[in-house]
Amino acid sequence: MRICVLGSGYVGLVTGACLANMGNHVICTDKDAVKIGKLTAGDVPFYEPGLQEIIKFNLKNGRLSFTGDLKKAIELSDIIFVAVGTPSKKDGAAQIAHVVSAAKDIAVAIKKGYKIIVNKSTVPVGMGDIVTKILKKNGISRDKFSVVSNPEFLSEGTAVSDFMSPDRIVIGASDNRAFNTITELYRPLNAHIIFTDIKTAETIKYVSNSFLATKVSFINEIANICEQIGVDVTTVASAVGLDRRIGRKFLNAGVGYGGSCLPKDVLALIDVSQKAGYVPRLLKAVDEINGKQIDLFLEKIKKSFPKPSGKKIAVMGVSFKPGTDDTRSAPSVRLIKKLLSLGFSVQVFDPAVKNSPVRGAVVCKDIYSALKGCDAAAFVTEWPQFKQLNFELVKKTMKKPVIFDGRNIFDPKIMKESGFKYFGVGR
Ligand SMILES: NC(=O)c1ccc[n+]([C@@H]2O[C@H](COP(=O)([O-])OP(=O)(O)OC[C@H]3O[C@@H](n4cnc5c(N)ncnc54)[C@H](O)[C@@H]3O)[C@@H](O)[C@H]2O)c1
Repeated sequence: MRICVLGSGYVGLVTGACLANMGNHVICTDKDAVKIGKLTAGDVPFYEPGLQEIIKFNLKNGRLSFTGDLKKAIELSDIIFVAVGTPSKKDGAAQIAHVVSAAKDIAVAIKKGYKIIVNKSTVPVGMGDIVTKILKKNGISRDKFSVVSNPEFLSEGTAVSDFMSPDRIVIGASDNRAFNTITELYRPLNAHIIFTDIKTAETIKYVSNSFLATKVSFINEIANICEQIGVDVTTVASAVGLDRRIGRKFLNAGVGYGGSCLPKDVLALIDVSQKAGYVPRLLKAVDEINGKQIDLFLEKIKKSFPKPSGKKIAVMGVSFKPGTDDTRSAPSVRLIKKLLSLGFSVQVFDPAVKNSPVRGAVVCKDIYSALKGCDAAAFVTEWPQFKQLNFELVKKTMKKPVIFDGRNIFDPKIMKESGFKYFGVGR
């Protein structure tokens, strides 16, 4: 099929590259000319395992191309994927400006033939109707296009395999022509497909992310209780998670969830709900607990270092989770800002993030340079390489053997036996 993708970020690029790899002809576009320049040269502007290889392969075989000429890309395609950003506004509502602008671009470029506009961006419920209205207002007759909601559930760090082996594919549409074409497009993936109307598909995405966020805030609430009653939350979570009705995933206590999806999607669902006249108390608590988690972690650091001036802390891990260089809404960013404002000097290390997202923190090239001369280390992202630390070397490298473990990476007993002062979350 002939496809174009508007927005070549994490979702758009993975979608475009994987669809090309499945045998389709895909043109990826973006408003950002610098990004398109890099991509044309085969350079992926962010870290995502396996993506670069697929892009290079499909650029070479001619099934994938990049252009800044959105109009031409739309004209040449039968299916147009929209994968532009929908970040939070100050009040928590999702910003729809990029989706609206993409819809206007599509309206201008549709000249002949019939096009299917597939929305992959996570959008407020009702966005499909807004896109339809924009096209109609621009004189495109209703028989010339269909609008589909096809939310994306991939996770950064495992995006390519998530796209190729999804738990389910949701297709929200209002006509059979669109249902049939998009079903055919995904047929090679042999996935479980759910057919719904557009609003239901849009809702499913928000509910999925809000449920994952709820699991994280739930276990963080339990962690805070465990700390008061002298119980280790990791043992509790492992036992509770073995119950198949509950499941172990997203039950890791720590400094809270981050990234470009969970925080904004919980806020957006709160907004959707409130605008519809219902106050979602549970979702509000999920967001509030998440915000407090990093503050509670910081309290532990402040208690150990009441006079931060002249003290040096290593922040280990900056990305919001392992396997990505994405620092959007990462708990580390809030922590680094707060440590600096308290007067600590901060050295950071992350295997994928090469520039500090906060001015004033020193980025180090490896684990041991970051730990060098530090009075404490705060682990904020559970990168697998942190589990392989040589504790003797860590002790020799640091000024003081003090570890704040924001992701419960280490075993408290082993840390104590190795001579560390150790603080986990909920243990
Ligand atoms: N990142 C994830 O893990 C993930 C997972 C599932 C769903 N989503 C959703 O997918 C959407 C995209 O997320 P992302 O992380 O890929 O964002 P991103 O910021 O990485 O990429 C968005 C891209 O769209 C481009 N863009 C903006 N307006 C444009 C326009 N009018 N025409 C063409 N390009 C335009 C931007 O320049 C940017 O490169 C969001 O709604 C997000 O919530 C993200």
